[in-house]
Amino acid sequence: MNITKIRKDFPILTRKVNGKKLVYLDNAATSLTPNQVVTAERCYYENSCANIHRGVHNLSEEASIVYEEAHACTEKFVGAKKGEVIFTQNATAALNTVSYSLKNSNMLKKGDKVVTTLLEHHSNYLPWKHLEKMGIKVEVVGLDANFEIDYNELEKKSKGAKVVSVSGASNTVASITDLKKVEAIVHENDALLCVDAAQLVPHTPINFKKINADFLAFSAHKMLGPTGIGCLVGKRELLEKMEPFMLGGGVVREVSLAKSAWDDLPYKFEAGTPDIAGAYGLKAAIDYINKLGFDNIETQGKTLTQLCLKEIEGIPGVKVFGPETGSTRGSIVLFDTKLNCHDLGILLNEEGIAIRSGMHCAEPLVSTLNKDGLARASFYFYNTKEEVLFFTKKLKETLKQV
Ligand SMILES: Cc1ncc(COP(=O)(O)O)c(C=O)c1O
Repeated sequence: MNITKIRKDFPILTRKVNGKKLVYLDNAATSLTPNQVVTAERCYYENSCANIHRGVHNLSEEASIVYEEAHACTEKFVGAKKGEVIFTQNATAALNTVSYSLKNSNMLKKGDKVVTTLLEHHSNYLPWKHLEKMGIKVEVVGLDANFEIDYNELEKKSKGAKVVSVSGASNTVASITDLKKVEAIVHENDALLCVDAAQLVPHTPINFKKINADFLAFSAHKMLGPTGIGCLVGKRELLEKMEPFMLGGGVVREVSLAKSAWDDLPYKFEAGTPDIAGAYGLKAAIDYINKLGFDNIETQGKTLTQLCLKEIEGIPGVKVFGPETGSTRGSIVLFDTKLNCHDLGILLNEEGIAIRSGMHCAEPLVSTLNKDGLARASFYFYNTKEEVLFFTKKLKETLKQV
């Protein structure tokens, strides 16, 4: 993989921050956008800017074709069947769609049980937790000493559950969930399995059919795509049974004052004008990833993370939270220092280094590790070893000075 060549696709990497070269290590929040994605979005606005599925004129037809191609390309990318990929605003909207639609469809009722875990981002915790107000029990599975979901506890709590919703990969402690194990437990108990794959899909090939989840959620902006578009992947037979929770233009095949009939999948769940330019961008992002190959993406992620862990663990006063060396882990390093994480973030920003600080929208977990939050460096394939070494060098210097 020619990183120098790849980096040319990301013009933002040449910009200066506070007079210093940008070192972007906040990829778990949002990845950078390559020229190819920006060009695709521009192509929509410059050539075919019109609403989809509603016009017979050329512009509308052109935009509709690309929008449909984006669906087909995403279905192929995640190994889903036609109609199983619904474009949402982001992973958050996808997870809310699952919880609200199951509730609206009476597939989740008062007295039922939902299980989630301590690993979750708020997007896969609050939409379920909220159901408690409607009389649905929500149980949370803890983590083991290696920051992985406690599978024994999951097995116990899954008994009698209607839905189990887990993170496929953590956005904080970097652990990767054993989805094979989880799927066996959840389906053994006749529950539905929902996977928050926001931190998984950008880094590893996912086949929806193979992992046999019932629902899967992710965002385009964490995998080179634009903000404003994400995906809910759901088994066709379930989506067909479910009532949409957002209603409006596009969701019905026919509507009269007396009755209405839902449109086919995925449109039933795509109410209103969607992010059409976003779909152009998502398609270009997937094309980019396919061309680069997940082997390259995974190898570079591992190399950078291992290097960072090796360097950072040698810095006095730095404590890393995450799976033990040798465990499978994501391209994230979550750590604590003697400095408040936001102060550290500000000091590193003066050197042009962008890290994340705070609760990372995973407060139930992160607040138990440090009530004031933690710092996080996260990598993607366009980051370099030099950037990692620059970051750890500056971290060391900063901590020495305080
Ligand atoms: C694991 C995980 N789930 C869900 C989300 C929510 O993604 P979005 O804000 O794009 O909806 C994030 C975002 O950081 C995440 O890391």
